[in-house]
Amino acid sequence: MSTSGAPGPTARSRRDRRDALVDGRRDEHRNGRRSTRTIGELDVVANRLPVAWTDGVGWERAPGGLVTALEAVVRRHRLRWFGAATAADGDHRPAWSHGPLVGVRVDPWITDAAVTGMANSTLWPALHGIGERIRWRDSWWDGYVDYNRAFADEIVATAARAASIWVHDYQLLLVPAMLAAQRPDLVVGLSIHTPVDEALGRLPAGDAITDALSAAAVIGVQTDRDRRTLRDLLPERGVSTASSRVPALPEVITSPVSIDPDAALALLRDPATDAIAQRVRGRLEGRYLIVGIDRVDYTKAVEERLRGIDLAFRRGHLDPDRVDIVQVAQPTRHAVGGYAAHRVEVERLAHEVASQWTRRDGSAPLRLVPEGVDRRTVAALLSEADLALVTPRRDGMNLVSKEFSIYNERHGGVLVLSEQAGAAWELGEHSVLVDGSSPASIADGIAEAMHLDHDRRREMARGRAGAVRRWTVHDWAASFLRSLAAA
Ligand code: G6P
Repeated sequence: MSTSGAPGPTARSRRDRRDALVDGRRDEHRNGRRSTRTIGELDVVANRLPVAWTDGVGWERAPGGLVTALEAVVRRHRLRWFGAATAADGDHRPAWSHGPLVGVRVDPWITDAAVTGMANSTLWPALHGIGERIRWRDSWWDGYVDYNRAFADEIVATAARAASIWVHDYQLLLVPAMLAAQRPDLVVGLSIHTPVDEALGRLPAGDAITDALSAAAVIGVQTDRDRRTLRDLLPERGVSTASSRVPALPEVITSPVSIDPDAALALLRDPATDAIAQRVRGRLEGRYLIVGIDRVDYTKAVEERLRGIDLAFRRGHLDPDRVDIVQVAQPTRHAVGGYAAHRVEVERLAHEVASQWTRRDGSAPLRLVPEGVDRRTVAALLSEADLALVTPRRDGMNLVSKEFSIYNERHGGVLVLSEQAGAAWELGEHSVLVDGSSPASIADGIAEAMHLDHDRRREMARGRAGAVRRWTVHDWAASFLRSLAAA
């Protein structure tokens, strides 16, 4: 793993790494495209329902990349969707036009222990390999077991015979084993949207978790590296369950989640999006636009990025009079220890950098937007950007980098991408790769990006968009479901 403050990779080592990433990607995509029979009834199981109820507003699309990704699946398959019913939407059962929703009711204190505690304070940092953030409490683990059981019970009671169950993410890692024990007829697949790190196995419940995972028929992870790590973490032989149909060990596949490029382009061409893009352009007055869009999570390393920007100003790579930097910093997980303080620190640092490098006319070259922005604004900002900074310390995939690849293809901007983002596996060849945990490396990356000539930028932009079109969210879903059907 990269260490903080380490110098950025040399051009040579970057190229080697890029080649390795690309070769791996090609193999994996080939392996994923096998033809198999189709699946029967499909139940999707995720922590969040795709819609959320707000009093006075009604049902709205829930936030989060997973909901966006699965929208494409929902349009093509008859399915049910299991998700946690929150206190607010508990009394409302919507008639969702795409198919039925199943809101799983769980006591708030169990949800708190399971999601705020075990999932977000223990598993999230462990899966990202960020040791100093890992917290452990036995009561969180107990809550996590109960939370997973509430989901499993609902599925056990209602799933059709031999249905395929597609479980998502780190909040529900125990569900495969719970289902295998009670409903051996079900075929259970799990997609993990975070990275996978060895630290998972070192948790007090590490063996219990990896044993539970091994009851799944198929597990999809984002990169080849995650696949190797998970294989090493799984027990050598499958755990014994009530089922003879449960394979000895799950098939672990590299299954990078993606976006729907056509839907992205439709959103971009929408007149309302175009109006925002025109406003963005108008404000620029010919300056160079640099954009970052993140949740304020320590894995996204917004702090390191701001320090990298500061260094780029200091070294003269960036000129305050000729650049506009917009960093969207969406607050997240207020209840999880450390997030509120981290957010305050990010906002303080942004203010410090902005006031340190004011322009001659007194205006600031850096603007931090301390809230989430709607999808049209995201599309408009990314389409107009000359440079996008996607520099997490570690990330499962990072769909913003894929959105940038489509929205920005015509503009021909540059992507400065962390090699620790899952997306580096597919887009690294056409991006400036940096070490997201190192401000010095980020500053180097900005400098390199600023000096790329027009032809090289265009070539990279085409390469990125092509990579996203070759592996869309439909390919992702179809290849996972094929593996599940073959299991
Ligand atoms: C990641 C996780 C998702 C989660 C999202 C937002 O992408 O994989 O499961 O929903 O972050 O986090 P939040 O805590 O706001 O749900």
